[in-house]
Amino acid sequence: MILVTGGAGFIGSNFVLDWLAATGEAVVNLDKLTYAGNVRNLAALEGDSRHTFVRGDIADRPLVEGLLADHRIRSVVHFAAESHVDRSIHGPADFVDTNIVGTFRLLEAVRSHWTALPAAEQQAFRFLHVSTDEVFGTLSPTDPPFAETNPYQPNSPYAASKAASDHLVRGHHHTYGVPVLTTNCSNNYGPWQFPEKLIPLVIANALAGKPLPIYGDGMQIRDWLYVGDHCAAIRRVLEAGRLGEVYCVGGASEKPNIEVVKTLCSILDAERPRSDGTSYATQITFVKDRPGHDRRYAIDARKIATELGWKPAETFETGLHRTVRWYLDHQDWVADVTSGGYRDWIAKHYG
Ligand code: NAD
Ligand code: DAU
Repeated sequence: MILVTGGAGFIGSNFVLDWLAATGEAVVNLDKLTYAGNVRNLAALEGDSRHTFVRGDIADRPLVEGLLADHRIRSVVHFAAESHVDRSIHGPADFVDTNIVGTFRLLEAVRSHWTALPAAEQQAFRFLHVSTDEVFGTLSPTDPPFAETNPYQPNSPYAASKAASDHLVRGHHHTYGVPVLTTNCSNNYGPWQFPEKLIPLVIANALAGKPLPIYGDGMQIRDWLYVGDHCAAIRRVLEAGRLGEVYCVGGASEKPNIEVVKTLCSILDAERPRSDGTSYATQITFVKDRPGHDRRYAIDARKIATELGWKPAETFETGLHRTVRWYLDHQDWVADVTSGGYRDWIAKHYG
């Protein structure tokens, strides 16, 4: 059995569903259910004895140690985090608490569990830390993409907190021998992404007739990866990654934000035309830039491709069409998560 942290969030819930479908191995899912966590994402698993959901904090060491021992956990996949850059600018403390202190406490619980295991189980045990390309900072238009050897240069409280967590994970491996693996992935998109992130926010605002906010000049570049491809990469690293190694994961799909938003508008124009016959692109509105906004991310994923044979199955075009259709078919989910707390956030951030 494996322990997944943050398995009610965007990538975590996709991962739990993907894992059970691909491997059938049981999962204990530990999630605090912050604003970003939603058990409705896992409704398809209701009554499925292979999925045990536990509401709790990764920083609660006795709870985590109990779960590790009671369920004889063989591996941990660690997604739980505060993940939204804009929220980290308004309130960085939660990012320090969960991403740094929480990860540290989780690592300590894992260390104590792992140390007490019989030799064969110790050898097989893995702690996979899910991290981000944002720890590497920003690229100029001509820089080569980020690779595993890039220096750390985080530029937001979110990125800094993830960088700190990566260092703690590395430290536990080199000092105590905890068998860790780290993945640094680029921007994900797909089902169940909370509509504060660019792609689901734009879909939701477009359908609601609201402005589509583009920060600054909209020429910031992100490397987009369909979430299902990220889940497959994590499964592969867990299965065959070399201990203590880092794997960069990306979609080889660099797009400026304005292009992403215009593509979304044209998909929506075809799938759900506006009643007045004009394009959703008329709703695009340029707004004040994000402070410390990284200009370009890109990933060189050759290591995971050559060592582990992973490559993305979706292109940006196929993945984006799937995603738009999913949001059109799941408007009830969007309505459910865009409750009072969400509306407060939008009012505070966009004014
Ligand atoms: P998310 O914000 O959608 O979900 C985070 C989940 O963690 C939520 O379910 C939340 O309730 C839970 N959580 C938060 N604090 C917790 C705590 N203290 N204890 C237990 N659970 C807690 O995030 P996401 O986009 O799914 O990202 C998941 C992970 O992947 C994060 O570590 C993030 O840094 C990393 N990542 C995300 C992306 C991306 O594009 N979204 C890309 C690369 C890496
Ligand atoms: O690169 C990986 C990271 O991708 C993950 O580590 C983070 O958890 C995840 O949130 C994501 O971070 P970004 O800041 O890149 O994602 P976001 O969707 O917030 O923004 C994508 C780009 O779109 C970014 O350049 C900012 C811009 N943007 C975003 C919003 C919400 C806008 O122009 N307008 C907006 O309203």
